[in-house]
Amino acid sequence: MLSWETRARRLARQLVDKGVLRSPPWQRAVEEVPRHIFVPTYYEYGPNGWRAADVSDHEATERWLDRVYSNTALFILPGGKSSSSMPGLMVRMLESLDIEDGNRVLEIGTGSGYNSALLCHHIGDHNVYSIDIEHELVSLARDRLASIGYHPTLVVGDGADGLAEYAPYDRIIATCSVPSIPWAWVQQVTIGGLILADLKLNGHIGNLALLYRYEDRAEGRFSERYGSFMAIRHSESSHSTREPSADRLHIESRATNLELPRPWENFVFWFFAHMDSALQITSYGQEMDSKTGLPGNACMIAADGSWCEIEKETRNSGSRTVWQSGPRRLWDLIEAAHERWTRLGAPGWQRFGLTVTETRQTVWLDSPSSDLSWIAQVTRW
Ligand SMILES: C[S@@+](CC[C@H](N)C(=O)[O-])C[C@H]1O[C@@H](n2cnc3c(N)ncnc32)[C@H](O)[C@@H]1O
Repeated sequence: MLSWETRARRLARQLVDKGVLRSPPWQRAVEEVPRHIFVPTYYEYGPNGWRAADVSDHEATERWLDRVYSNTALFILPGGKSSSSMPGLMVRMLESLDIEDGNRVLEIGTGSGYNSALLCHHIGDHNVYSIDIEHELVSLARDRLASIGYHPTLVVGDGADGLAEYAPYDRIIATCSVPSIPWAWVQQVTIGGLILADLKLNGHIGNLALLYRYEDRAEGRFSERYGSFMAIRHSESSHSTREPSADRLHIESRATNLELPRPWENFVFWFFAHMDSALQITSYGQEMDSKTGLPGNACMIAADGSWCEIEKETRNSGSRTVWQSGPRRLWDLIEAAHERWTRLGAPGWQRFGLTVTETRQTVWLDSPSSDLSWIAQVTRW
């Protein structure tokens, strides 16, 4: 059986080869922090619901350790309420935060405590602060960190408010996504400090953004590569279920040639379309095809009840049928956004940036003073 140290070194090598692990301090942290202490079991969803990984015999233990020391996100609570994020994504974020000796770092979303442990390894536990809304997770993380000699400041609470008690911080890293960057985070980072967070306008639409704190704002760009975290939760649930417009009498159908039957699969275009056409989509997915039992037509519903459905397969003519109803024609808006996005040169994430002030957050193309900018609207989903 391979030792955990050998496995951890192998994982570090893989992350170096992937190009996400670059600097010696983070490489040493991945090699020397035992991830298995933080993920003593993980949960998987199968036909019979959530099930804890089997660690009952030698072979099962080997499988568990293989998973723990791989570049995989692992659920640490049944129901998917918390996970130990992908190590590759974690170190990519830690590297891009440019953390220096003596920096004080606040993490939003303690989860397993593994990321806190990486931070403790690099900058010392007295410089690490982490907050999670789940009492049980914080208490487990505290014990597990202490078992390897780390005693960072861990707090149970809603990380949307930051952690004013110990502010200011030099860096804030959020490992759950937020629909808008809380002003409290900006206030709690020193001028010249950095915030790295996953901005997801309605839980799904957006990407990681690295923001520099200026006196009156935080500003920066979206990460060139895509990254995604589970959405932030608050004690009172903000989730609501939307129903499509009940108007079944006024359904329009027509042909579409847009080669994006599921526009949400092109993450950057989907983000652009939401801002440029104020789509306000609250749910989307594929209908189950009753004949084949496989995913069929794509459908989406907006906050105002407008909906559209797009045929799964193209016809011989190369087009698909789209059905639309409700106060707005969603597919028309998506096609118009696609035309504008293409005219702009199909910009990737690196061309988009974000400015956060006390009263608004603005997304811009190419530069903060660009003519092309949007006030980022949050849709309750
Ligand atoms: C992907 S996990 C974090 C992974 C973690 N950094 C690690 O190393 O294992 C996201 C975490 O965000 C937490 N979370 C969700 N809403 C929160 C909130 N309002 N405040 C603080 N933490 C929250 C969840 O409980 C969950 O543990």
